[in-house]
Amino acid sequence: MFKSTMPQNGKIVHLHFDGEAVTAFNGDNLAAALLRAGKVKFRTAAEDDPRGPYCMMGVCFECLVEIDGRPNQQACQITVHDGMIVQRQNAPHSAGETSG
Ligand code: FES
Repeated sequence: MFKSTMPQNGKIVHLHFDGEAVTAFNGDNLAAALLRAGKVKFRTAAEDDPRGPYCMMGVCFECLVEIDGRPNQQACQITVHDGMIVQRQNAPHSAGETSG
């Protein structure tokens, strides 16, 4: 379980991750906000091969997600915004998988 060490104040923003509502604070990093919400699986590289943020600095590309219809976005390099629609990216043969 991840827990923020930053002060939890400021404007709350609402986003959706695979259709599930997630709250974050304005200015939060997307990957950090999702991890704090318990979302650790951001994509799959192959069936049953889940991936999630590793480096948190734009190097590993394990945090790729689709944001507002744009695929291959590095969640660790994105700041949240209200109404953001985030989708997991699944390997083609595991499309539709949403658990985790
Ligand atoms: S977590 Fe490594 S590039 Fe985003």
